[in-house]
Amino acid sequence: MNTINEKLPSDESKRSKGSIPGEPLSTGPLGIDIGTANIVVAQKRGEREITRVQLNAFYTLSYSRMTEIALLNEGGMFVKANGKLHALGYQAENFANIVGGELKRPIAGGILNAKEEDTTFIIKGLLDKLISNAPVENMKICFSVPGEPIDSAASIFYHEAIIKKYLEQKGYQAESVNEGLAVVLSELAANNYTGIGISLGGGMCNVCFAYLAVPVVSYSIRKGGDYIDAMSAEAVGETPGKVRIVKELQLNLAKAPVDKIQTGLHIYYEQLFGILAKSLQTQLGSTDRIPLLRKGIPLVLSGGAAAPPGAVEKFKQALDAIRLPVSISDIILAKQPLLTTARGALQNILSVESGK
Ligand SMILES: Nc1ncnc2c1ncn2[C@@H]1O[C@H](COP(=O)(O)OP(=O)(O)OP(=O)(O)O)[C@@H](O)[C@H]1O
Ligand SMILES: [Mg+2]
Repeated sequence: MNTINEKLPSDESKRSKGSIPGEPLSTGPLGIDIGTANIVVAQKRGEREITRVQLNAFYTLSYSRMTEIALLNEGGMFVKANGKLHALGYQAENFANIVGGELKRPIAGGILNAKEEDTTFIIKGLLDKLISNAPVENMKICFSVPGEPIDSAASIFYHEAIIKKYLEQKGYQAESVNEGLAVVLSELAANNYTGIGISLGGGMCNVCFAYLAVPVVSYSIRKGGDYIDAMSAEAVGETPGKVRIVKELQLNLAKAPVDKIQTGLHIYYEQLFGILAKSLQTQLGSTDRIPLLRKGIPLVLSGGAAAPPGAVEKFKQALDAIRLPVSISDIILAKQPLLTTARGALQNILSVESGK
């Protein structure tokens, strides 16, 4: 039986519109997005779609029985592993803010972080807080996986197998969906699931060109919001943490930057969008599988790093500088960029069940 200790901090709703605190999600099919920065769960309950966001992070405390009891009394989110206590999610962020020290992540650049020894316990602990064991045997869950990176030797194979195993241990029938395809499934129903879905996340950019919901080209680049933070911080002599806060709260890519941090962010957004546009040209240009299209196709930007105002216009400028073998009719921002992948993963189950 799953014990529920979760207490989400009061500021969560500000960060993640659409998420609600409460019990682990259970009844009804589930979509889950286990990303570098966030874990998002989406569930259909009757006519309602419920989403939940947690920070995919942990903070390691040296073990003391007192701390463990205090955390238990608080209903805290934590796991105990190898003689250590790991605070999880937003609770980990609270510890890092109050005590200082490093907030760590079980996933790096979109893929399970082999450098952290307790990754297994952390991911399992976070999943246990977010979703209950399957209430009926073989209830369906769809989880997103990155496309194979084109800029690193890492493979997603192990990452996908481990997450599938955890979800099956919780009693689910688990299947995966490519993250870029999930963006198409979430946002492009009106275009018969044909178009390009891009998720600009914390650790990666995921791209999928889909034709009638079938992925034709999909891949990832292991650079995202974290890269923009780190490179801008390095360039202007600030910490990545401070740069991230400016990026999330103040940055407007449609307006001229007003200080050195914003200048750094503009420059590295432009660089990343340039890399992304070039990769589209190379990847789409090197396949002979592009179907004959009678009209232009839409391109959707999603993921947290697509959230700053002006991101769509900036990306358009990068696309204007290259040539693609397909014509793009529109560049659209996803309705809720942080939630798109999980909603697309859920849609992957719902559309199969309803035959749509
Ligand atoms: N309002 C915002 N403005 C700018 N950036 C934001 C905003 N909200 C979140 N971000 C950034 O978005 C990134 C996280 O996005 P997201 O949750 O989509 O990534 P993820 O799915 O966890 O990671 P990945 O898909 O790369 O594994 C972080 O870099 C974060 O700083
Ligand atoms: Mg993501």
